[in-house]
Amino acid sequence: MEQDRPFPQHFLFGAATSAYQVEGSPLADGAGPSIWHRFAHTPGRIRNGDTGDVACDHYRRFREDVALMRELGLRGYRFSIAWPRVLPQGTGAANSKGLDHYDRLVDELLAARIEPLATLYHWDLPAALDDRGGWLNPEVAHWFAEYAREVFRRLDDRVRLWATLNEPWVVADAGYLHGVHAPGHQSPYEAPRASHNLLRAHAAAVAAYRAEGHHQIGLVVNLEPKTPASPRTEDAAATQRAEVYMNRQYLDPALKGRYPEELGEIFGEAWPGFSPDETAALRTPIDFLGVNYYTRGVTRADPTSWPLRASNVKQEGSSYSETGWEVYPQGLADALLWVKRRYGDLPLYVTENGAAFPDPPQAPDGGLEDPLRVDYLREHLRALKSALAAGCDVRGYFAWSLLDNFEWAEGYSKRFGIVHVDFASQRRTPKASARFYSSVIASDGRLP
Ligand code: FCB
Repeated sequence: MEQDRPFPQHFLFGAATSAYQVEGSPLADGAGPSIWHRFAHTPGRIRNGDTGDVACDHYRRFREDVALMRELGLRGYRFSIAWPRVLPQGTGAANSKGLDHYDRLVDELLAARIEPLATLYHWDLPAALDDRGGWLNPEVAHWFAEYAREVFRRLDDRVRLWATLNEPWVVADAGYLHGVHAPGHQSPYEAPRASHNLLRAHAAAVAAYRAEGHHQIGLVVNLEPKTPASPRTEDAAATQRAEVYMNRQYLDPALKGRYPEELGEIFGEAWPGFSPDETAALRTPIDFLGVNYYTRGVTRADPTSWPLRASNVKQEGSSYSETGWEVYPQGLADALLWVKRRYGDLPLYVTENGAAFPDPPQAPDGGLEDPLRVDYLREHLRALKSALAAGCDVRGYFAWSLLDNFEWAEGYSKRFGIVHVDFASQRRTPKASARFYSSVIASDGRLP
């Protein structure tokens, strides 16, 4: 039976984290503050006033965490590099001690036979660069390429998989349009400009890599298949807008060299109207695309939701995770197949997939049962298999997340880890989902 067929032999089963969410010690060894450090220390921004000051203390406990990954049999680890550790002021002199940290992490991973996938930007812009306009300053593309070069020079001899940006849509939508993420701006004029500069920065880093790198580099986006809530024309139009805004705003320019026309309609007078030359320059061949998948969007027209005029409709009979996202495994296959249809046969990685559920308390024998997460993983891996069977060139899958961690504006209130973290003692306890995932990997992807 199709479902029992194992995954391809060298399929990269791994888990993912990001620097600010797990490392702690944000200012250690000469690092500068990031916009997330600043945002988290601004009263009222993060639930319960949580910050990433300690997080999972992964900066100091990474050896223990790599040992745990090895015990679980993980073959890959996707982590991110904190730009302000490498360049405390964002540009200028590199801080060797910051790079040393990632150097040691990579060596530790390789010694454990775990393939590193390093993301250059997972949202922690140096605060010093935000003071100079951050993602709104066109110079940011050069700053990013300069930073990327420092990192490539130190680590490309051992890191073979690189990602430039994590989820540019979230950076622009949450950071510049709605203000719920750092740097906390709320402007329809700024959001498309920030997006454009993110794409320019991505292209500049890929160009730097082509000049100096020896392996593979890609981009990570979050995709949500969008379907209309009803056959009404308004809902179909709203669905189209949602798809353009979230899924095509980045991939069309990065892979085809043009913006979808509908962006002008969505942003109205706030749309900057980039020239064809400016837009064509955003297209750069990449070696792979990373897809983060969490949920889908069943969409209806909604004049009160600005500027998209669309919102999601809750599905009777579906289950939802603690973040209010519909659990919809088929959407993972839909997203991967959509990429193949629209952009061609690009190598793909599922760079994040997972869910927050309220975990039951630890049993007296120390075990931690998280049956909802076990089901979530199993069903998404099943969907992934169906995408492979349909011809998608998927090379790896990274569960989000290795550890319970700092979930941005939600602080520590949402736990996504397959490994439980007791934040008071920093004790790690693999949940049932970690044991489940471990057995799936050991059997090359057979799903019990
Ligand atoms: C993604 C982020 C990741 C994590 C998950 C839950 O959007 O890339 O850092 O917060 O959501």
